[in-house]
Amino acid sequence: MTPLLFSPIDLREVRLRNRIVVPPLHQYSARQHLPTDWHLMHLGRFAAGGAGLVFVESTKVERRGHGTLGDLALWDDAFIAPMARLAGFIREHGAVPGIQLGHTGRKARTSRPWEGDGPMPRTDENAAEWDAWDIVGPSALAYGEGWPVPRALALDEIPPLVSAWGQAARRADEAGFDVLEVHGAHGYLIHQFLSPEANQRTDAYGGSDANRRRLAIEIVESVREHWPAHKPLFMRLSIEDDAGWGPEQNVALARILKTKGVDVIDCTSGGVSSRVPTMYRALRYGYQVPFASQVRRDAGIATMAVGLIIHGDQAEQILQEGHADLVAIGREIMHNPNWPMDAAQKMGLATAFDQVPRQSGFWLESRARRGFGGVPSTWQKGMG
Ligand SMILES: Cc1cc2nc3c(=O)[nH]c(=O)nc-3n(C[C@H](O)[C@H](O)[C@H](O)COP(=O)(O)O)c2cc1C
Repeated sequence: MTPLLFSPIDLREVRLRNRIVVPPLHQYSARQHLPTDWHLMHLGRFAAGGAGLVFVESTKVERRGHGTLGDLALWDDAFIAPMARLAGFIREHGAVPGIQLGHTGRKARTSRPWEGDGPMPRTDENAAEWDAWDIVGPSALAYGEGWPVPRALALDEIPPLVSAWGQAARRADEAGFDVLEVHGAHGYLIHQFLSPEANQRTDAYGGSDANRRRLAIEIVESVREHWPAHKPLFMRLSIEDDAGWGPEQNVALARILKTKGVDVIDCTSGGVSSRVPTMYRALRYGYQVPFASQVRRDAGIATMAVGLIIHGDQAEQILQEGHADLVAIGREIMHNPNWPMDAAQKMGLATAFDQVPRQSGFWLESRARRGFGGVPSTWQKGMG
C-alpha cells in the first residue's frame, strides 16, 4: 500500500502529489526586493527533488515590513512579473508553488543571519534605507535589549495595513501561486498583536484575547477576499511561546480562522520574545508535532507539522497517527534536496525514482539497481 506520505492530497481544487512540503526558507538574497537566480536554484532543486508543495519564503506586504535588505516583496504590481518567474519555475519542475506573505513589524531592519542577525547597524552604504525604515508594532515596546523601539500603529493606520495584505494576496494569485500562507508566527507583526507581551494597546486591537486576535482575523478576511476560492489558504501560528498566547488561545483562533476560509494551520512555535521558550532547552525530533496534533483535534482543522522531522518513517508515523495532514521538511531538505526520493527508496516504494524528473531519476534508479557500484551499462554505450 502506498504510504500516506506519498499519497496525493486535495486542498480545495489544488492537488499535491504527496504530503511533503518545503516550508518558507528565507534566503535574504533579494536584490532591490527582487528575486535572483539564487531563488530559482533554491526553490527549483526542491521541486525537482520531489516535494509536493514548495513555499517561497516570507514575502513582504509593505516596505516597512521588510526584515532585511534581502527580503522579497509583493507590495507593488511591479513585483508580480518577477515573482511569477518563481511560481512558474516551481511548477515546471513538478511541485505546486506556494508563497508565504509576511510583515516583520517591530523585528524589522536586521542584518542577514550570517552578517550578525540582530538590529542592522547604520553604515554609509545603507544610510538611506536605514533612515527611511519605519519600524512599527502594536505598542512602543522593543523586542529586546538593543532593539529599536517601534512606533505604535495609529488606529487609522490599521485598515490600510489590512488591505495591503489583501492586495499582496491578489498579486500572489496573479503571479501564479496556488497556495498562500499568512505568516502569523515567529514574533512578526501578527504575532506581536496576538501576544500581551508585545501588545499593550487599550483600543479595539488590544486588551482581551478577542481584541488581540482582531488584526489576524481582519487580515485573513482581506486575504480571502482577494485569494481565489478554489485555492487553499494556510496560516502559520506559533502555538507555544511562553508569552501569553499559547495552545488554548491558538485553538480558539484556529476555530475562527476555519470559518473565515483558512484550510490549514501550520503549527510552529516561538519568536515574540527574545527570551528562549522553555521547550527549546531540550529539542527533540518532531518537537512541534504535539501542537499540530492538538490544533487538529481540538479545532477540527487540517494541520501541517514542522520542526526536526528528519526521516521518512517518522513523517509517515505523524500522518498515520493523525497528528497532521502535511509534513514540512526544512533544514533536512536543504541538506538533501532529493529527500522525497530518498525517503521513498528507504520505505521500499517501487516508484521511488518517479519522485524526481527522468533526467536524474533514470540514472539514480540504475545506480541503485547496481547496488551503488559498478559502471552502468549505458556508460559503455556512451553518455553523450
Ligand atoms: C534558512 C531558514 C529560513 C527560514 N525562513 C522562514 C520564513 O521565511 N518564514 C517562516 O515562517 N519560517 C522560516 N523558517 C523556519 C522554517 O520554515 C521551519 O519552520 C524551521 O526551519 C523548522 O523546521 P526544520 O526543523 O525542518 O528546519 C526558516 C528556517 C530556516 C532554517
